[in-house]
Amino acid sequence: MNILVIGSGGREHAFAHQLKKSSLCDKLYILPGNAGTSTVGVNVPLNPLDFALVGKYCIDHQIELVIVGPEEPLVKGMRNFFMADSRLMTIPFVGPAQDGAQMEGSKDWSKAFMKRHNIPTAAYETFTFETIHAGIDYVKAHSLPVVLKADGLAAGKGVLICETHEDAVLELNAMIKEQKFGQAGNKVVVEQFLKGIELSVFVVTDGKNYKVLPSAKDYKRIGEGDTGLNTGGMGAVSPVPFADEIFMHKVSERIIKPTINGLLQDGIHYSGFIFIGLMSVDGEPFVIEYNSRMGDPETETVLPRITSDFAELMLATATGKLAEYELTVTEQSSATVMLVSAGYPGDYAKGNTIEGLATVEGSLVFHAGTKTNDAQDVVTNGGRVIAVTSLGNSIQEAVALSIANAEKIQYQGKYYRKDIGYEFL
Ligand code: AMP
Ligand code: GLY
Repeated sequence: MNILVIGSGGREHAFAHQLKKSSLCDKLYILPGNAGTSTVGVNVPLNPLDFALVGKYCIDHQIELVIVGPEEPLVKGMRNFFMADSRLMTIPFVGPAQDGAQMEGSKDWSKAFMKRHNIPTAAYETFTFETIHAGIDYVKAHSLPVVLKADGLAAGKGVLICETHEDAVLELNAMIKEQKFGQAGNKVVVEQFLKGIELSVFVVTDGKNYKVLPSAKDYKRIGEGDTGLNTGGMGAVSPVPFADEIFMHKVSERIIKPTINGLLQDGIHYSGFIFIGLMSVDGEPFVIEYNSRMGDPETETVLPRITSDFAELMLATATGKLAEYELTVTEQSSATVMLVSAGYPGDYAKGNTIEGLATVEGSLVFHAGTKTNDAQDVVTNGGRVIAVTSLGNSIQEAVALSIANAEKIQYQGKYYRKDIGYEFL
């Protein structure tokens, strides 16, 4: 089977790595990929949002399975484009069409979905330009802190937690009137602040059946002790110690099953990943958000724990055969440490030579923002540069090994958090 993975980050390198291990995988392509994916498969230097070119590539290269990593192509309708073309519609495809991708693409839509299907989430109201006066009254009377969320995709920056009413009014105005997040903030969800501990649960579904992948906790802040600015993710651990059988049973009954059934009831055929961001509030799970894709860096942490055939899992997902698939997962713990560029998540340099990759021992190295330059050196090409993942008999052991190997990788401006998993050590 020839497989095409869409995307260019650590998540896609982890997909590629896991797919390549399968006897089902013949040719493997990553579009556009990075320096790491080029060692596992063939990088395809095309724009993933140019659906016509991607479609042509699939036909020319006899692609038999497409797996989409990031949300943007899904929210913009890559699946719809494939469904509308008789030569592409028969290619098994992992990732929802636009109706399903709204789970991530519109916070207002996903909140209404949860309300409609009685899925526990923070209480909320949505406001627009037309209803801004009501919105201002609503935030002024709201308990503190109050959470403001831009409805659309805002590159992970669209959520604001306001500690004062003045700040909340200011931000609501900035989002709706001054388009602080562009079109994404034309609608703003104002919601209750949930106090608890976060984790991510990953579900893969063929539209009817589903499998729950290992849970993970990611570390979003740039600084140790969870301080400083939010990033895409500085590392992750799996499993999450407090996500025990009792907690996961609640997640399954109150959240996963109603989500899958809700999609069916709403007439949405969803095949792909559902990444559920959860808050455990005194042991009770609430949905913070849905994403229509896997997490990054959580994929780099979770996938190495999966011991059953990943290509077969993806094919079963795309062809409605998940019920027949047996998912197996190692008992071992996994920890990922993300090496980033100095300045990230603000401005950072690109093009710094990366050295020492070959000296890594006992860990997996997934490239996030890297490329091969004209001199054939691997250089930095993003804020998040390299994810180092290790398995171990405990989270502590896995983190220690990832850090030991992170030390061996060198480039100018390297930074990483040394406290990934700290609350579980
Ligand atoms: P999101 O972009 O939806 O992932 O939100 C970013 C982060 O904001 C989440 O990971 C949470 O840490 C935080 N957050 C979002 N919604 C809430 C909420 N209702 N209560 C508390 N924290 C929240
Ligand atoms: N690590 C969080 C995300 O992928 O959205």
